[in-house]
Amino acid sequence: MAILVTGGAGYIGTHTLVELSKAGYEYVVIDNFCNSDKKAIERVEELTGKSIKLYEGDIADCELMDKILKENNINACMHFAGLKAVGESVEKPLMYFKNNVIGSIKMLDVLIKNGVKKIIFSSSATVYGEPETMPITEGFPKGETTNPYGRTKSIFEDILIDTSKADSEMTAVLLRYFNPVGAHESGRIGEDPEGIPNNLMPYITQVAVGKRDILHVFGDDYDTPDCSGIRDFIHVTDLADGHVKALKKIGVLPDGEVPADTGVIIYNLGTGKGTSVLELVKAFEEANGVKVPYEITDRRPGDVAVMYCDASKAEKEMGWKAERNIEKMCADAWNWQKNNPEGYKG
Ligand code: NAD
Ligand code: UFG
Repeated sequence: MAILVTGGAGYIGTHTLVELSKAGYEYVVIDNFCNSDKKAIERVEELTGKSIKLYEGDIADCELMDKILKENNINACMHFAGLKAVGESVEKPLMYFKNNVIGSIKMLDVLIKNGVKKIIFSSSATVYGEPETMPITEGFPKGETTNPYGRTKSIFEDILIDTSKADSEMTAVLLRYFNPVGAHESGRIGEDPEGIPNNLMPYITQVAVGKRDILHVFGDDYDTPDCSGIRDFIHVTDLADGHVKALKKIGVLPDGEVPADTGVIIYNLGTGKGTSVLELVKAFEEANGVKVPYEITDRRPGDVAVMYCDASKAEKEMGWKAERNIEKMCADAWNWQKNNPEGYKG
């Protein structure tokens, strides 16, 4: 039995492969490397001491997907493959709907036809829109997403919900990530964005390593204690562990399956604690003894002031809780960046 991991060469996928190996799972990876590097797979092999069965290709290639499912004894799919740059999705919405929605539908169809009906989906806190109160629980209604990327996540969630209603064997876990940061503590795998980073932590690490001059802090006029935005940052290894726990929750164990609930289960994956942009910069400087020069600029359009979750459902139902604090997130992010200043290209 093996888990099919789509997008397994990416940032969250690679970290999850390491945790899957640790927990004793076998897996097969499909990735088209549109936003990742083959070296990432080699590094996972180095960390786990095992070679990875890798298929290079697109999840929308039904023939290839069918071949993978026929050649391997797959019993569940972890679906990470997707495009994720919010700004790019505003400029190229069709590219996002095609890849993240149409590609995922094609993939799902082949999975179901081959009897694979257990799926763990990488969703996002962005599906909540802009709730009026915090912390966000899974009971909050979905909100108006501010960009096409967010809409692709919300749409594919709905597709999984409707598919599950029509087929009593379907089981989908929708994992709504808050803000994944950090890297594996070995410093061998980490986040390797193309070009100018969109996200805060890789921008901070690139300023610290001297690749960029200064961090732009987007807005100091939010209604928050230090007037900068607040997010729920979660260590990527904790996030990866959440995926392993989700597999167990739906009865998929390393050596077989046990009866478990079917249908759709939704979990927030975050720490439950908000940290402001300025607090994160300070924590990074203190944890690593480096300076991160910054300047305040205008708010970034579409940003919400505050987002953090109530993560107690995942703890109650899956026994999962984020263990790593902000200092550890900062230390591991820096360890990755300073040892790999050019990411996987170095
Ligand atoms: P990533 O870009 O590092 O990894 C995604 C991987 O999927 C890449 O290796 C890419 O090459 C591959 N891929 C993309 N489209 C593909 C396709 N059509 N066929 C085959 N492979 C394809 O991103 P990540 O940060 O690891 O995110 C993983 C998932 O989690 C994504 O679906 C993303 O939208 C979601 N997510 C990420 C964040 C975050 O902040 N990183 C937050 C919420 C949700
Ligand atoms: N920020 C800066 N400067 C930067 C980058 C970000 O000040 O250079 C600020 C943002 O304004 C925001 C915070 O840092 O207040 C976090 O921004 P990120 O871009 O790191 O993360 P977001 O919360 O905007 O978005 C992330 C993912 C999305 C996902 C969303 C869900 O990138 O994929 O979380 O909440 F949809």
